[in-house]
Amino acid sequence: MSGDASVSDLATAARLVRDARRIVVFSGAGVSAESGIDTFRTEGGFWQRYPPEEFGTPMGLAKLYAADPARLARFLEELVGPIACAAPNPGHQALAALERGIASRGGALTVITQNVDALHQEAGNSAVHEIHGSMFDIVDAEGRALRRLERPELARIADALARSQRGLFKRTRLARALLPLIGLPSAGTWTQPRHRPSVVMFGEALAEPAWQRAQAAARQADLVLVVGTSGLVYPAATIPELATDAGARLIEVGPERAFDGIWLPGKAGEVLPALVADPAPS
Ligand code: OAD
Repeated sequence: MSGDASVSDLATAARLVRDARRIVVFSGAGVSAESGIDTFRTEGGFWQRYPPEEFGTPMGLAKLYAADPARLARFLEELVGPIACAAPNPGHQALAALERGIASRGGALTVITQNVDALHQEAGNSAVHEIHGSMFDIVDAEGRALRRLERPELARIADALARSQRGLFKRTRLARALLPLIGLPSAGTWTQPRHRPSVVMFGEALAEPAWQRAQAAARQADLVLVVGTSGLVYPAATIPELATDAGARLIEVGPERAFDGIWLPGKAGEVLPALVADPAPS
């Protein structure tokens, strides 16, 4: 295992996991890092290359679409491409195994994720609240569900985005490449898209009913397992405290520490399999 998780911390954490009846996993970009998807705030991360003031709001995207479609296409390709190619890593798989183990003992595990990549579901977790929405759920201008994309469709969109910036008519070709994902009213404007992924942008409300359900699950948990998040984005980052205020214990996995509790430093794909491997009672 990478990092410095002491054997005793790991043993204590494993015992808490084994004894818990209701576990809430609160995950962020770090759990998908080993699936090839960039985190946002770590050195060289996504928001360093693409500042969120410009790329993380509907108004910012509208301005880029008008002024610099090639840069917008590069951003969208870098956002969508890795998700399109990603597969669950051992960290996701360990969480799915943990859900099965707990269910067999009559308990329950709920994943509350800030990620939009659907990798927890693909690994096999069945109760997943995507509080920042999903890249795969296409909604209309009022937020009503229209259809669900498949991962290969996302790969085709990423390819089309790359091709759209070779040659003339870049804005028009960008709009066409984006069409399965984002429906722009007409070439030259990006007012309110006719359809878009349910991904939550800065300044927008969290996804519902996921957010209400996530808070309810957190209040009922006896253990909250925080994985791969800087804990800097609110209101999402209130979830661990909601759980601990209601009496839950907290375990955190990741190279950096953001919350009070037992910290297991290291990569999710290495620490989680060790944590959930059926531990010998001691
Ligand atoms: P951040 O990029 O803020 O934090 C990622 C965390 O993962 C950092 O603490 C890293 O140290 C850690 N990390 C990196 N590699 C890891 C690994 N292999 N295993 C475990 N941990 C690792 O990402 P989030 O906390 O998810 O919002 O960011 C929260 C929100 O900010 C995102 O959902 C996104 C962004 O703006 C929206 O898009 C609405």
